[in-house]
Amino acid sequence: MALRNIVYSSEPLIRKKSKVITDFDERLDILLEDMKETMRKNEGVGLAAVQVGVLKRAVVIEACGQYFELINPVILNSEGTQTGPEGCLSVKNVSGDVVRPYKVTINAQTRYGDNMVLTLEGMLAVVACHEIDHLDGILFIDKMIEKRD
Ligand code: CO
Repeated sequence: MALRNIVYSSEPLIRKKSKVITDFDERLDILLEDMKETMRKNEGVGLAAVQVGVLKRAVVIEACGQYFELINPVILNSEGTQTGPEGCLSVKNVSGDVVRPYKVTINAQTRYGDNMVLTLEGMLAVVACHEIDHLDGILFIDKMIEKRD
């Protein structure tokens, strides 16, 4: 396992669309382990593969005492709204309020390629939406309604 360097919002790569993962192999295992380690080291609550320079549709999330890996995640349904502050390891020194769904149902695959459907609420829904946006090159600052100091 290894720490990977964070890609910042000043780098064009962060705006690229990530590709669907079709190979559930050892390289994916290593990527996910490195992403987990890099997220923890940087005290993040989520990380998308593009943030470590890999344009693949993989995210890791760790919040509310739970850890998730989502491969090729797709939001099937969202309900309600919530507004709260967000930050991003790729966007230094900025935080601000974003409106997100309160609850999302997501279809994704595990690192072994098994399909799963999960429903996340509250902060976990916020983090999942934030990370899934990264897979399409979208940053929270694009959606921010108010900047916080
Ligand atoms: Co982010």
